Amino acid sequence: MPADLNPIDKAKFVAARRAVDYVEDGMKLGLGTGSTAAWMVRCLAERMKEERLRVIGVPTSRRTAELAVSLGIPVHTLDEAKWLDLTIDGADEFDGSLNLIKGGGAALLQEKIVATASDQMIVIADAAKEVHQLGAFPLPVEVVPFGWQTTKALIEETLVSLDVFGRDVAIRMNGDKPLVTDEANYILDLQLQRIGNPRQLALVLNQIPGVVENGLFIDICDVVVIGQPDGRVTVRDINTGIVENEQVAFGPTDNIFADGD
Ligand code: A5P
Repeated sequence: MPADLNPIDKAKFVAARRAVDYVEDGMKLGLGTGSTAAWMVRCLAERMKEERLRVIGVPTSRRTAELAVSLGIPVHTLDEAKWLDLTIDGADEFDGSLNLIKGGGAALLQEKIVATASDQMIVIADAAKEVHQLGAFPLPVEVVPFGWQTTKALIEETLVSLDVFGRDVAIRMNGDKPLVTDEANYILDLQLQRIGNPRQLALVLNQIPGVVENGLFIDICDVVVIGQPDGRVTVRDINTGIVENEQVAFGPTDNIFADGD
């Protein structure tokens, strides 16, 4: 492993590499978005080359699609693939029940649709993403641009009666304009600090007109692979309750690092 890779990236890389072991020949795969998912896409391309695996990928964002295509992974739309065997994606936070906050990279809508259309979802993360209670990471909510300030006000009003600690809501910016998602929507980031009842919050937010989807993934993730900078990984399966600690082997000449960003 190159010495210049920072510890967080090393942890993300080993989690990604371990998760790619779940891929089998012929699978239809959801390809997540973000820096950890980008390692996964690179590890997948390596395995495909080395083992002549044939898989198809359904990306969850334009940037993941571009990366997958550049590495020779066949890319299909979800409508072409219809149902997926496995989705591997990163997360911004996960708790002990494998409920997640996602959307730090503004791709939560496609990520949730793709993960929900998969037999299994594996989250890959460095250990810092694990929390006792969700909410320190601002919760992203995707909203339609039309009337977004009214939607924001409705969300703020709704939060008053919910079990959360903070209630500040901010529009995500890209320079001096609101950031526009791949689905041409905006993102509101909810600074909640502590989410007492993630399931209730997810349901209530999606009742508000103008809200397209929220970044809480409840009962969607099956397995989390947590990486450490020294190559150790913990694999936790919420359905079987099995927790395994392993060591991922990697060499200093890994081709994968040639493509690293
Ligand atoms: C993208 O919208 C997100 O859900 C990402 O999966 C999440 O932000 C994790 O990103 P990193 O792997 O870059 O930390």
